[in-house]
Amino acid sequence: MPEKIAVLSDIHGNSAALQAVCEDIDQIRPARKFVLGDLVAGLDPLGCVELLQSWSDVSYVRGNADLYLLTPDLNQLPERAEPMHAELIQMMAWTTLHMRAGDLDWLRAMPDMLLWNGSWFAHATPVDRLFPERWRLPGVEEKYQEWFYHSQGIREDMAEEELTMLLACMRAQPASRLFVGHTHTPFLRRIGEMQICNVGSVGLPLDGDPRASWVLLEEMPDGDYEISIRRVAYDMNPILRLVDATPEYPGFERPGMQQAYRKMLETGLHWRVHLNDSRKES
Ligand SMILES: [Fe+2]
Repeated sequence: MPEKIAVLSDIHGNSAALQAVCEDIDQIRPARKFVLGDLVAGLDPLGCVELLQSWSDVSYVRGNADLYLLTPDLNQLPERAEPMHAELIQMMAWTTLHMRAGDLDWLRAMPDMLLWNGSWFAHATPVDRLFPERWRLPGVEEKYQEWFYHSQGIREDMAEEELTMLLACMRAQPASRLFVGHTHTPFLRRIGEMQICNVGSVGLPLDGDPRASWVLLEEMPDGDYEISIRRVAYDMNPILRLVDATPEYPGFERPGMQQAYRKMLETGLHWRVHLNDSRKES
């Protein structure tokens, strides 16, 4: 029977979106699901973990936010000047508190990349994973390296020269299809024989379309593979209510931030856009 595979990423603690995507996927009944990380950093981490753990035939790779959660001794981090730094530490502490102890072990056991039948799966880009020396900070302890690194990911408008290394890595696997997430902006791009697909985000789309995103990979009768990006409209009320009911969520203490997060869910545009709008209005 021709093969069908579901690929999804960047759930970010939005269990309402994940539930809707589960239902959409279940109707299609793919043989396997691949989840590309950034699972829990958001308002309902445990709801997402419980949903995901109830699935069968699913494989995971870890995302950067999952790795942040696994960084030991966050209170001992070297001092850094990034403005988001302190808030991010609080966010990870909050997320950990809202999960069960074993859930961190579940994340820890996930690999950084997976290769399956000519399809390659990573969170941001496999190049980071294969060549960490390209981004490691000198003088920072090994256990903190991931904390200070945030990949730009793979964007649709990247010039082909910027993708030279990635394409060489795909050939070396060999993989003719690459699936990533991380930018929350889905796209499908073909370069020669290669297909690069960003599957977008289930829980926090940022391409101006608030519907949850996931990708279906289908084997065609001629042996070729077709990739389609699917968007799922869902009832946002449960997650919006959770935003309203969680003023203690780290970052929400900033003026306008709770409202900006809400608008991000409603519009599919980053909270920064809405925070700037509210500043202009006031
Ligand atoms: Fe990410």
